[in-house]
Amino acid sequence: MNENVRIAVVGATGVVGREVLSALLDQGVTSEQLTLLASERSEAVELDYGEDTLAVEKVTPDSFRGVNLALLATPAAASRTLAPAAQAAGAWVVDASSAFRGDGNVPLVLPSFNPELLGAPLKGRIVSVPSAVSTALVSLIAPLQKAFGVVRAQVTAMVSASSAGVIGVSELEKQTAGLLSGREPEPHAFPQRIGFNLVPQVGPFMANSPWTEEEAGWTLEAARLFGARGETPVIAGTAVQVPTFYGHGLSVHVQLKTPAPVEQYRAALKTSPALKVLDAPAEKVYPMPMLVASDPAIHVGRLRTFPQAPEWLTLFAVVDNAGRGGALNLVEAGMRLLQRSA
Ligand SMILES: NC(=O)c1ccc[n+]([C@@H]2O[C@H](COP(=O)([O-])OP(=O)(O)OC[C@H]3O[C@@H](n4cnc5c(N)ncnc54)[C@H](OP(=O)(O)O)[C@@H]3O)[C@@H](O)[C@H]2O)c1
Repeated sequence: MNENVRIAVVGATGVVGREVLSALLDQGVTSEQLTLLASERSEAVELDYGEDTLAVEKVTPDSFRGVNLALLATPAAASRTLAPAAQAAGAWVVDASSAFRGDGNVPLVLPSFNPELLGAPLKGRIVSVPSAVSTALVSLIAPLQKAFGVVRAQVTAMVSASSAGVIGVSELEKQTAGLLSGREPEPHAFPQRIGFNLVPQVGPFMANSPWTEEEAGWTLEAARLFGARGETPVIAGTAVQVPTFYGHGLSVHVQLKTPAPVEQYRAALKTSPALKVLDAPAEKVYPMPMLVASDPAIHVGRLRTFPQAPEWLTLFAVVDNAGRGGALNLVEAGMRLLQRSA
């Protein structure tokens, strides 16, 4: 990469932001090329970057002057003002929040699925990436769709506490310790107690709807990603907040158009570089959150079919939500945008 390129990481102190720094280091980006930004709460906080230590600055519209690429790992409300500010300053912008995922003027890009959009003519300079669960779902469905056609996918997503960012992680820590000492905690980051509990609500509900925004997002994002290629499988299900820290689990039932033996489904999943098939249950080999930390591959296993309904494939998958499902999409999309001439 040209050494004059300047990259701003906004939300650098967060769960996704810290993973972005790790991915940029892997890409050979130097500390001189980086500006770390967050809200005034984190002004002057120091973060390690390789051998160096960088101070976080409070973001202002002026922060983007001279910046070529702005990676936004911020809440949607912040992204809605920061993305246009960075765009106006001439930067390419990749946003990890839900702010632009439904905006037809902003491409929704999963770099392992539709990278071609990043080289095509664009209306603006803002690009959005899908949620962690959508990243996993689309990655799982894509090779099955190509080989057999997919009618629908029914999902139960077991969403870890880090989906709610730094405050989600610290709330699970505090509640677990408090409950073990006999203290009943007050929920703040989650709608109900998360320690030693399961909560069938992740994020807010849609207005006048039984679906949460998280669940509705899977349908919307799948429609945008698959829709551009033709047929969109119906994707629906339940998001459950679970008391693990990192790594989302997905129990998925996929209905195929052309039924096949389970070995053929497994072979199709193995063709995808985005996936790692861990499927030897007799040897206790299957996907688990504890195996996926910092693994760029989505783990998939427990493949099964019923003889009476071979068109339904049942599987279990795990994605590193902060890394694969957030930071890596931001960095991979950003690096490709920097390769464009304009
Ligand atoms: N966590 C996941 O698994 C995941 C996966 C994919 C996508 N995402 C999306 O990525 C984004 C970040 O999520 P996260 O989990 O990393 O959240 P987080 O841990 O809460 O971090 C949020 C970051 O944004 C900064 N921030 C908050 N308000 C700001 C403002 N008004 N101006 C500038 N910076 C501000 C925070 O800075 P301070 O330190 O100053 O508060 C912090 O650095 C969200 O939109 C989320 O939906 C998350």
